Amino acid sequence: MNFEEQSFVVVGGGREKSMGLAFVKDLLAIGVQKIAIFDVIDPSAAIDAIETSFPKATALFHRVDVRNRSEIETAFKQVVNVFGYVDVLVNFVDIINEPKIEDVLHINLFGTIYTTMTAIG
Ligand SMILES: NC(=O)c1ccc[n+]([C@@H]2O[C@H](COP(=O)([O-])OP(=O)(O)OC[C@H]3O[C@@H](n4cnc5c(N)ncnc54)[C@H](O)[C@@H]3O)[C@@H](O)[C@H]2O)c1
Repeated sequence: MNFEEQSFVVVGGGREKSMGLAFVKDLLAIGVQKIAIFDVIDPSAAIDAIETSFPKATALFHRVDVRNRSEIETAFKQVVNVFGYVDVLVNFVDIINEPKIEDVLHINLFGTIYTTMTAIG
């Protein structure tokens, strides 16, 4: 399959050692060229490295807290402005060992629902 024209949004790829960022690197290795990362952590060093190693690829970062629907909607609009469309959404955001169950539900459950609903429009 040719991934060059496909556009991916990876939610939760901000932390250096995150599964999301590891997945972004795997996508680049198979030829994906359009990737947007949504996270509360800015992976700017990783994006610099991506631009050096994969000069044909475009990696965007949008600061998004998945509890905030407005931030999600704005980020998707900006991705569509640049890439024209979103083909694939992958959600890696997860918090564990969080004492406040409300935060776990808002991030792990509702955050996944909000990003998915926005992606399918
Ligand atoms: N790390 C592993 O080896 C591993 C293995 C198997 C499965 N998993 C699963 O993969 C998932 C991700 O694990 P991980 O190790 O990448 O976790 P991680 O904590 O490294 O990454 C989670 C990412 O979510 C972001 N995030 C947290 N709250 C957010 C919010 N409110 N809005 C936006 N972004 C937010 C964090 O900044 C971080 O970049 C988990 O479900 C985990 O159980 C991880």
